[in-house]
Amino acid sequence: MAESGRGGRPRVFVARRIPDEGLELIRAACDLDLWEDELPPPRDELLRRVAGVDGVLTLLTDRVDDAFLDAAGPGLRVVSNYAVGFDNVDVAACARRGIPVGNTPGVLTETTADLAWTLLMAAARRVPEGDRYVRAGAWKTWGPLLLLGPDVHGATIGIVGFGRIGQAVARRARGFGMEILYHDLTPLPAEVTEPLGATYLPLEELLPRSDFVSLHVNLSPQTRHLINAETLAWMRPTAVLVNTSRGPVIDQIALADALDRRTIFAAALDVTDPEPIPMNDRLVGRDDCLIVPHIASASRATRGKMAEMAAANLLAGVHGETLPTEVPPPA
Ligand code: GLV
Ligand code: GLV
Repeated sequence: MAESGRGGRPRVFVARRIPDEGLELIRAACDLDLWEDELPPPRDELLRRVAGVDGVLTLLTDRVDDAFLDAAGPGLRVVSNYAVGFDNVDVAACARRGIPVGNTPGVLTETTADLAWTLLMAAARRVPEGDRYVRAGAWKTWGPLLLLGPDVHGATIGIVGFGRIGQAVARRARGFGMEILYHDLTPLPAEVTEPLGATYLPLEELLPRSDFVSLHVNLSPQTRHLINAETLAWMRPTAVLVNTSRGPVIDQIALADALDRRTIFAAALDVTDPEPIPMNDRLVGRDDCLIVPHIASASRATRGKMAEMAAANLLAGVHGETLPTEVPPPA
């Protein structure tokens, strides 16, 4: 048992205010140091605040690497990341020190798929552009050629990364009568893909056939810039590209070039590289690129469940128990 805190309670650092569903559990069991700012702790402040703690709850904006682990010291027993993604955590470095890493899979699957679907439809049917048009007072009459876009129903969707979220997007696509193609490291078992009517294709075959391409891969060295000048060139000039995974999965310079040359129709991004995207980035402010600020899991209910799950991982870790949802250490 870690008993280093005041009154024998474990000491933990929580790197941002998370919903009360989780914070209250932590407060009840631990000596809590909470970073209250809206912005993440600056790196030096983060390293100072984690010194000597038994557990940390981090966000995707906090980098957990060897320097972080050195700063925390040998008493650190758990890194609980408030996200399903964990590319901000050097899981191998944690594993070398015997520190388990927790994440929040499952609870945000449907909420994230909802936003991927929102972006897909909004970009196809040019909803943000239409809203700006009305606000600008440009709406003079009903127009036969006004704000035309591709149909969603009956189109072909290519889902890249067919884990929980990718499959949840496929379920929605079935309701729209779409043809469903997917790509992943390897084809998935028929009991997963058959009920969804999803067909495996290599990327070079999936992209040319897809009217919509939605990205649901983890960020890794293999998926960094998976969408680049070469793969964008495989896409249709009418295609819509949706990214709710991680910004660096797309080479944004290549995407801006493709939009400039109209070799794809539009992009809709929940994630960018970096975040926030600089206001002078070529992707900002154009009608064929819709960008929202990394809000895919942002429903009240889901953020509450993520908080409960991240708290459960943190508390299990400081008590030396197996985390309810532990990121598998690299082989
Ligand atoms: C958010 O992007 C998450 O990984 O949960
Ligand atoms: C994570 O990758 C998920 O699909 O929940």
